[in-house]
Amino acid sequence: TVVYRKDYKAPNHDVETINLVFDLIPDRTIVTSTMHVVPREGRESDEFELNGESLQLVSIKINGQPSLTNQYAMNAGKLIFHSIKEPTDIEIVTRINPKANLELSGLYLSNNNFITQCEAEGFRRITYFPNRPDVLAKYTVTLHAPKECKVLLSNGNLVDQGVLPDGRKYAIWHDPFPKPSYLFALVAGNFTVNEDKIELNNDKTALLQIYTEPGNENKTVHAMDCLKKAIRWDEVRYGLTLDLERFMIVATNDFNMGAMENKGLNIFNAKYVLADDGVATDSDYAAIESVIGHEYFHNWTGDRVTCRDWFQLSLKEGLTVFREQEFASDMLGSESAKVVKRIKDVRALRTAQFPEDSGPMAHPIRPDSYSEINNFYTMTVYEKGAEVVRMYQTMFGKEGFKKGLAEYLRRYDGSAATCDDFRTAMAEANDADLSQFALWYSQAGTPRVSVKTQWDESKKTFTITTRQSNRTLPGQPKPQPLMIPLAVGVLNDKGEDIPLQLEGEPLPVGTTRVLLLNQDVQTWTLVNVDRRPLLSLGRGFSAPVICDMDLTRDQLVFLAKNDSDLFNRAEAFEKLSILAIDAFIQELRKTQNANSLSPMEAYLATFEEILNDERLSPAYRAEILKLPSEQAIYESQIIIEPALIRAACQAMQKKIGQRLKTSFEDKVKTCTTEGIYKYDPDLAGKRALKFLSLSYLVASGNPKGVQQTRNFFEKGNNITDKLGALSIAVHSGLPIRQEMLNKSSIAWATEPLLINKWLEVQALATSVHGEMPVVNKIRSLMMDPLFSIKNPNNVYSLLRTFFAKGGPEFHTLDGSGYQLWIETVLNIDSFNPQVSARLARTLENWRRYEPRLSSMMYKALRYVSQQKNLSADLREIVDKAINEP
Ligand code: ARG
Ligand code: ZN
Repeated sequence: TVVYRKDYKAPNHDVETINLVFDLIPDRTIVTSTMHVVPREGRESDEFELNGESLQLVSIKINGQPSLTNQYAMNAGKLIFHSIKEPTDIEIVTRINPKANLELSGLYLSNNNFITQCEAEGFRRITYFPNRPDVLAKYTVTLHAPKECKVLLSNGNLVDQGVLPDGRKYAIWHDPFPKPSYLFALVAGNFTVNEDKIELNNDKTALLQIYTEPGNENKTVHAMDCLKKAIRWDEVRYGLTLDLERFMIVATNDFNMGAMENKGLNIFNAKYVLADDGVATDSDYAAIESVIGHEYFHNWTGDRVTCRDWFQLSLKEGLTVFREQEFASDMLGSESAKVVKRIKDVRALRTAQFPEDSGPMAHPIRPDSYSEINNFYTMTVYEKGAEVVRMYQTMFGKEGFKKGLAEYLRRYDGSAATCDDFRTAMAEANDADLSQFALWYSQAGTPRVSVKTQWDESKKTFTITTRQSNRTLPGQPKPQPLMIPLAVGVLNDKGEDIPLQLEGEPLPVGTTRVLLLNQDVQTWTLVNVDRRPLLSLGRGFSAPVICDMDLTRDQLVFLAKNDSDLFNRAEAFEKLSILAIDAFIQELRKTQNANSLSPMEAYLATFEEILNDERLSPAYRAEILKLPSEQAIYESQIIIEPALIRAACQAMQKKIGQRLKTSFEDKVKTCTTEGIYKYDPDLAGKRALKFLSLSYLVASGNPKGVQQTRNFFEKGNNITDKLGALSIAVHSGLPIRQEMLNKSSIAWATEPLLINKWLEVQALATSVHGEMPVVNKIRSLMMDPLFSIKNPNNVYSLLRTFFAKGGPEFHTLDGSGYQLWIETVLNIDSFNPQVSARLARTLENWRRYEPRLSSMMYKALRYVSQQKNLSADLREIVDKAINEP
């Protein structure tokens, strides 16, 4: 069944309070829910509708009396009370089986601990309730648990705890803030806690706690530090204070997604909490900071103001991703470090969101329909949603944005809002007309902006003509022109930024300016442009669009060397890299041999100049000089040929490695970080440049590079070094790789986070002639005792990585990769639909592959789609993938 945004109806009843009592037993937990239900003024009917799924109903009482069967009806996952006309107390007792819950939605067990995940619709798997985000209630939760259970947690404040007459333990929690049921959480089991305190700007002190499974007590130092920084940052930047006496984080190894912002009790995938030099890489440290920030920032943008319905998901997610990105950026000292972060975020958007927006799952950031909401926790809703929020800041400045956010929170605090509410608050706080901006919420597809420029030497004018176009989606109205803030600068022939003065302006205004596009075709004229100009377009990625401008190689080289906007320098260099790789692809198509080819001289010279430019930070150089990922190259191709693209990348890397050998060797030496490991973005940048250089050296067969790779693995005192070396060895198919893999499987076997890394590295392996194909290797890894198909992190690390990034190792002409895809997707769908659906999405862009592959990909999708009993989640993905024209 498909749900439509246009069908939204307000609920007939509010639930003012809910009292929940849990008797926690792994295979038969009893849940007693008592709700105070109040009919709404102006309601459509007296029917009170509750959702339920996989529940065993034990009893119902209405105002203390056992209910009569004619007072309610049960059908298709719904419990409906026919007539609630007055404030009424309803008590419902249900029985559930957390132990059998392998969907990891609702109440489930992780390593024998009780954990919940209720977003989006998990609460209905705990008890009957109007499980929709616009029903906000005050929760009191009582937990009864076996005496071995050390920790009993729920949202809000601890009211009481102790021992029951029968020897079991109990705890009572009360959350003073009304919340939707998707923010409910409980945790019970054996955990240790790391505690700290923070002084808030309202002079109160809050208790901060991070709970982990025993043995991890020393791995929460970084997470605690991040949490304190996040709390402080929200106070300073937005004046938003923590509103609770205590804030708790719990880490678990069994979790479908990244983390969850349950009010006062965030639950995290352990990989976004635990860190020390032995388990977390530099990128893990950075990711932990972002995710801790993200979930904390939801406390205001998500919890205090929530979403009216799930179509509004981007209201909280786009906004919170934006806040998280701003936080992470502010935590970085230098401008150049901030740019690196921005380049990484934009690259992620381009390689994962753009293909989504051009494929069968394309949807606006505020979708119009879905059959399974869990399928819409997408790059579009999150990452494109964050770009849409960023555009407000680009248009109104940081202060204007802050005013708009404050206005939004003031208007909707304690309630459930819509994307339109947010846009309207922004518009009114800034005295702006944002009616056209609304199209960003309703139109799917990545807009294209083509730009032409013309310099009139005699008049000294420089005209910029923009033309926007948007993909027409099946069943959607013709796209309308959007409001697009496009930041531009102009370089003169000496490579300097010139002051920008538009026709009619008395004086120039700055050197980077935002042009506000709002029509199909528009022209801007700059005056007093007396030297040959070159446009620097879309500085800092000011809008989530594809900018087209015909630039020659020479112009790209010029921008890559001179643009004052470091983001756009990286852009120009990436375009050059793609052009170079394209040449290799063409050559391979003709001759199957790219050895005769070298990238053009100017490209190599620019590469070398950037590599050795000590004015640029190592982190920046490492990021800009990384070849575009294969997924990014796929995006640049009309037809995707994985084997050809892999071969072209390898040939390119080899040539670059040979040619710039001395510079790379120098970087490996000078960027080696001595002493005990410490996470620090600058040191992380050095390590990144070291491994980037090493990977080019190894690609070119440099024996010293191979030796150094081995050394970093053997002697490295941190996991960034060890894993960096192992990845190079496995991805390059070095002979020493098996020995390294064996060693790590022994050393890492007791640490779930390391097992995931070990699996992931092997999913990215390159097969070596005469040895087992990677597909077979993956199959044998699935039999390894270290792998569990029930564990989402294991599945994502091994299978999703292989399907999404295995390239020619997955897309084999014998179809063995697709066979593995079919088997695993169907197997996992029988117990965890959220995970199977995410896994299945790796084939959705089948139409873009070369015909031999795409026809097999289509057959695999069709085969799955023909199975009976698919989950709604998987059904939606495969059917959209094969049906979209
Ligand atoms: N709200 C969470 C976050 O972004 C995501 C949880 C989504 N979980 C799910 N099963 N759909 O922070
Ligand atoms: Zn979120």
